[in-house]
Amino acid sequence: MQTFLSGIQPSGRPHLGNYFGAIRQHVASQEEAGEHFFFIADYHALTTVQDAERLRANVREMAATYFALGLDPERAVFFRQSDVPEVTELTWLLSCVTGMGLLERAHSYKDKTAKGLRPSVGLFTYPILMAADILAYDSTIVPVGKDQVQHVEMAQDMAGHFNAAFGQEVFVRPESRLPNSAAQAKVPGLDGEKMSKSYGNDLWIFESGKSLKKAVNRVLTDSRPPEEPKDPDGVLLLDFLALFLEDAELQDWRERVRAGGEGAPGYGHLKVRLIEAWEETFAPARARFEEFLADPASLDAHLARGAERARERACQVRDRAYRACGLR
Ligand code: ADP
Ligand code: TRP
Repeated sequence: MQTFLSGIQPSGRPHLGNYFGAIRQHVASQEEAGEHFFFIADYHALTTVQDAERLRANVREMAATYFALGLDPERAVFFRQSDVPEVTELTWLLSCVTGMGLLERAHSYKDKTAKGLRPSVGLFTYPILMAADILAYDSTIVPVGKDQVQHVEMAQDMAGHFNAAFGQEVFVRPESRLPNSAAQAKVPGLDGEKMSKSYGNDLWIFESGKSLKKAVNRVLTDSRPPEEPKDPDGVLLLDFLALFLEDAELQDWRERVRAGGEGAPGYGHLKVRLIEAWEETFAPARARFEEFLADPASLDAHLARGAERARERACQVRDRAYRACGLR
């Protein structure tokens, strides 16, 4: 039986990259046979969000987002990371079998510090906490965007080191799973770099009306006229359209941009189509999001129930690991 698990940090409003790279896969995986664990990584978010009110609000928004997008709390165990303190116990055990060198190679740590984030010890050991998240539920499949693949590989290494050190198969080896299309595995931001909350180039999925229009207007373009033939791979708006459109329609837009000439679409046309496709995709979920958000007591109750179910498993795995290394 497969056990699906993934987490997302409540470090801001979920953007297109989070949706196409992660959340969509999480919700879709519920249709596959197996167990499903999804959580809001609030311990991880503390590496960047150090404002209690904001963190609490972000957690509720993230929960409302998942429910609005179709997460079913009956089929999937959906919870808040910090409600399962066993993961911090496992983090310590794993940190004792993890070499500094492994962490020093983490792209995400290097990227974040290169962008000027103060490197706390927590940021450095982030991948160990993430490995504990993954291993605590005997997960076999971890659906994530491309940027998280290295972290899953680190979890594989840590599981292997722990099992080898104590001569027992305590931890199950997880595999990452990427979205089917490359466009979705690495969604670009407004500036063409990877979309990320921490780069300030992100677009919230539930943007609407005037602010959606304003957001789409910020997608990087240039001053070339519509008639000028262009390489479609260099037109960022087409990368955004690729997220939403069926292949046949996307190819048609690309061909017309490539051909140029009279009647070729300008950037304005691409923006109009993008806004339309965006609305079709997200408007119904946006309405549900508002409803969930208006009922925080019910969100909290769902999270509490999820935490109970998650802890049952995490306690079993924690006990297994403690016994294996002589702490029991
Ligand atoms: P951010 O970089 O904005 O802080 P997170 O690190 O919280 O995003 O990512 C949450 C999930 O969304 C992860 O599974 C990650 O792989 C995915 N993800 C984030 N940004 C992108 C992107 N630009 N393209 C595809 N997936 C992404
Ligand atoms: N580090 C992940 C991110 O930034 C979030 C996360 C924490 C996670 N623990 C996890 C993802 C375990 C998958 C599995 O997106």
